[in-house]
Amino acid sequence: MDWVALRAEASSAATRAYAPYSRLHVGAAGLTDTGRVVAGCNVENASYGLTLCAECGLVSALHAGGGSRLVAVSIVAGDGRPLAPCGRCRQLLFEAGGERLLVDGGEGAEPVALSTLLPGAFGPREVDARRGTS
Ligand code: THU
Repeated sequence: MDWVALRAEASSAATRAYAPYSRLHVGAAGLTDTGRVVAGCNVENASYGLTLCAECGLVSALHAGGGSRLVAVSIVAGDGRPLAPCGRCRQLLFEAGGERLLVDGGEGAEPVALSTLLPGAFGPREVDARRGTS
């Protein structure tokens, strides 16, 4: 896994962030199990609650480009160093990559599995298994 290259893609996406309110530029890049690289950046709104995180853009790009599963992601701020994904985005990443999805830990640090960042996750399996009968 070329984390340096994936991080560079995330950094490049961060340069295209639209974040005039927080001024925190975020980029996310992911590698699929078919070898495709997809990326996204955060997009803010004057109505602050409508902000789209970088990971949202990444997941949209994943599906718009044909789908498949994420196997590795790097999420960075404008300084190029990894940023902890927010709670909502951990859930989005879980849907797109599952518990074994590897998340960049940064230079000199080990990547972490998504199961560490989102233990006991709710996912598609629960929807299937617990769908109501009444
Ligand atoms: N942000 C992301 O893009 N991803 C995250 O996982 C954390 C937060 C963005 C949203 C907002 O534009 C800015 O960072 C400050 O919260």
